Amino acid sequence: MMSSSKPAYKGYFGRIGGIPLYKKFIKYWHKVEKFEARPDDIVIVTYPKSGTTWVSEIICMICTNGDVEKCKQEVIFNRVPYLECSTDHSMDGVKQLKEIASPRIVKTHLPAELLPVSFWEKNCKIIYLSRNAKDLVVSYYFFFLMVTANPDPGSFQDFVEKFMNGEVPYGSWYDHTKSWWEKRKNPQVLFLFYEDMKENIRKEVMKLLEFLGREASDELVDKIIKHTSFEEMKNNPSTNYTTLPDKIMNQKVSPFMRKGIVGDWKNYFTVALNEKFDKHYEEQMKGSTLKFRTEI
Ligand code: A3P
Repeated sequence: MMSSSKPAYKGYFGRIGGIPLYKKFIKYWHKVEKFEARPDDIVIVTYPKSGTTWVSEIICMICTNGDVEKCKQEVIFNRVPYLECSTDHSMDGVKQLKEIASPRIVKTHLPAELLPVSFWEKNCKIIYLSRNAKDLVVSYYFFFLMVTANPDPGSFQDFVEKFMNGEVPYGSWYDHTKSWWEKRKNPQVLFLFYEDMKENIRKEVMKLLEFLGREASDELVDKIIKHTSFEEMKNNPSTNYTTLPDKIMNQKVSPFMRKGIVGDWKNYFTVALNEKFDKHYEEQMKGSTLKFRTEI
């Protein structure tokens, strides 16, 4: 699938600490680096397309004690500002975060080594959500096509090659995921899997409530599960990004809330690509105890 109206891929991204990142983010990196955390900040960390929006909405529901109307009052990207996102125009994650009341919910896609040190120093709670690489790369490909300013990803096969080589924003998924897996025993960090959330959302919501020191009544858990189901979030303008114009995200190309399943990779990987990917995956993840399921 090609989209010729998009910018060319080569040279589109710059690097911070060796990690490919949007140049417009890099321009304001100095503000991110010295970001001042507050002790009650809740930080959501993911590699892009791991289910960030899903876990963000769950945390918003937890923080409002299940107040659906309150959550619907504002779009997700204003309730959960994207730390390192800055453009010359309206978006500025650092500014947004400075202006919102505590407890703040912070979204970031940074690898562990690039997370502003203040979050560690202030002992903030950090939730890392991971997702299997095959479904993630499918989701990332469609995201590339629908985000108007993103460069042309080429064919799916081309994009998978770029992903394997870490030539995508936030770099190597393998290194990113391993960097956070290393931190999982730190009491500040809760490491979750998208596949576990799909399999048993109640269990994962309970884990989140416990981690955040909140009481888990059946009523609250039921409310959270209902409000954050894929169908609800797909039809909710405060979570589905449809408030953004086509010139930013063109949902006619692919919806932001696309499929929300485990195993969609089977519809896109050829047998040959799958073999190549598996071989490379094994090399990259050698020695790591981190294991993902690609179907449930
Ligand atoms: P797909 O493209 O595979 O459908 P992020 O928020 O990190 O950008 O991740 C987006 C991915 O999470 C998309 O995956 C999206 O459909 C999925 N997603 C969002 N909300 C979800 C939910 N409530 N349940 C399951 N998946 C969800």
